[in-house]
Amino acid sequence: MKGRVFSGARPTGRQHLGNYCGAIKNYVALQEDYECIYCVVDLHALTTLRDTRELKQNTYEMVLDWLAAGMDPKRSIIFVQSHVPQVTELHTILSMVTPMGWLTRLPTFKEKVRQQPDNVNYGLLGYPVLMAADITLYKADTVPVGEDQLPHLEFTREIVRRFNFQFGETLIEPQAKLTETPRIMGIDGVNKMSKSLDNHIELAATPEEIRRRVMIMVTDPARRYKRDPGHPEICNVFALHKIFTSDAAAMSRIETDCRHASIGCVEHKKWFAEDLIQALAPFRERRAELGQNPDLVWDVLADGAARARVIAQKTIAEVKERVGLP
Ligand code: AMP
Ligand code: TRP
Repeated sequence: MKGRVFSGARPTGRQHLGNYCGAIKNYVALQEDYECIYCVVDLHALTTLRDTRELKQNTYEMVLDWLAAGMDPKRSIIFVQSHVPQVTELHTILSMVTPMGWLTRLPTFKEKVRQQPDNVNYGLLGYPVLMAADITLYKADTVPVGEDQLPHLEFTREIVRRFNFQFGETLIEPQAKLTETPRIMGIDGVNKMSKSLDNHIELAATPEEIRRRVMIMVTDPARRYKRDPGHPEICNVFALHKIFTSDAAAMSRIETDCRHASIGCVEHKKWFAEDLIQALAPFRERRAELGQNPDLVWDVLADGAARARVIAQKTIAEVKERVGLP
């Protein structure tokens, strides 16, 4: 029997290279061998969003990116979290087997407290419980995510073990699945690429936008002048370039030239920008094509919710019985 994949992403609008390299690449690839379920986690987004009017547009843009990247709604279920409300029921039930200390100790929670000290809401604390509910409601065994999500996956596994110990084998303990590039740095070269830090490059960026963003990228931090030898192993431009070119010979020439200071960072960035523009061209074209039909995304999501609901109803009935709810 095929394994089952589940993953979720907050509706952050147009996706960036980090989302692609850390997660979407695997979302697409896993469709070959797994039954896949991909979810726009709009409820999770409420924990940090101030302007919730953006949710709808952001959902649209993200799902259009997903489809353009090759996520196939015929093979996979693509849906919006809040369209299948059983997840909130499971969230409540799982919260009863979640020790508070596990939540307050999570590095992801501490980070959020630092980021939004004036909005440390209850939902933020329960964020990982809702994520555990997502994964277990759909009985997924494999969860493709970027590296930043590993603490949440470990948390989910612990909750599953606790639930099953208390109520009998019911939920499935999932495994995280990373890509070979699970953490992409932003154009600042020091932080993880993220929309909230505005250090990202969008998959759907125009060639002009790509050139502009690439030209402000921070390069080798140990190289001050063009005459200094470079260090490709610590250069973020080099790291990203390697991912987005298929020309290994050109990459190895750039590496040598950089080490011998025969090319400078500006020159390298120009090369990278053009290679990136070329690598993303098929994606941009496909996105423009799919965008011609404004109903497509919403039709896909409605169909996805109907299919997801069937699985969710079955699990929630089983969970309630195990827990002893009358
Ligand atoms: P988010 O937009 O934070 O909901 O993330 C959606 C998916 O993209 C998650 O699986 C993240 O782990 C992944 N992701 C986000 N940013 C990065 C990054 N800079 N590098 C690698 N993966 C990322
Ligand atoms: N927490 C994830 C993020 O911030 C999003 C998410 C919610 C998720 N539910 C999930 C990821 C279930 C994988 C599986 O990116």
